[in-house]
Amino acid sequence: MTYTFSPIGSIHSPFKSKQDIQSNRNKRPDGYAEIKGQIEIHDPYAAGLQDIEGFSHLFVIFAFHQSEEGGLIAHPPFDHKPRGVFSTRSPHRPNAIGLTVVRFHGREGPLLHVSGLDMLDGTPVLDIKPYTPRDQKSEARFGWLEEFTQ
Ligand SMILES: C[S@@+](CC[C@H](N)C(=O)[O-])C[C@H]1O[C@@H](n2cnc3c(N)ncnc32)[C@H](O)[C@@H]1O
Repeated sequence: MTYTFSPIGSIHSPFKSKQDIQSNRNKRPDGYAEIKGQIEIHDPYAAGLQDIEGFSHLFVIFAFHQSEEGGLIAHPPFDHKPRGVFSTRSPHRPNAIGLTVVRFHGREGPLLHVSGLDMLDGTPVLDIKPYTPRDQKSEARFGWLEEFTQ
C-alpha cells in the first residue's frame, strides 16, 4: 500500500542549507528553541486554521524533502554507536517524515509565527496539530539518549 500526501504549507526558516543547521548545532548545544520563522499555510487549507489561536505549541509534521534514502541503522552525529533508525530522529528513514513541536506566537492570516524550528527553509508541511494536555508525559524516559542529556 502506498499513500500520497499533498503539502498544506511550507516552512520559512533561517536555515537555507543543511550546513546552516549543522553550524547552529555546534554553536547552540541547547537546541533550537530560539530559532524563529513562519509556517505558511497554502490558500486552499487556510480555513483549517480557525481556532488555532490560544494553543502555545503545535506539532508540525513535514517531509524531509532533501533527505537521502534511509536505511534501518542511523548514525547520530553526537554518538559513536549506530542506532536503529526508529530510536532516532534521523532525517534519513524509510518514510522521510519529520515531526517537530514548535512554540506558537501568533497568526497573521495564513502565516503562523513560531519558534523552535529545526527544518530547512522551504520544507513542505504535511499537517499541523495542536499540542494538547494528553501529550504531556511527566514520566517520560529517553532510552540511549539519557547518556547525552545529563
Ligand atoms: C535530527 S532531524 C529532527 C527533525 C524533527 N524534529 C524530527 O524529529 O523529525 C533535524 C535535521 O534534519 C535535517 N533536515 C531539516 N529539514 C530537512 C529537510 N527538509 N530535508 C532534509 N533534511 C532536513 C537537518 O539536517 C537537521 O539537522
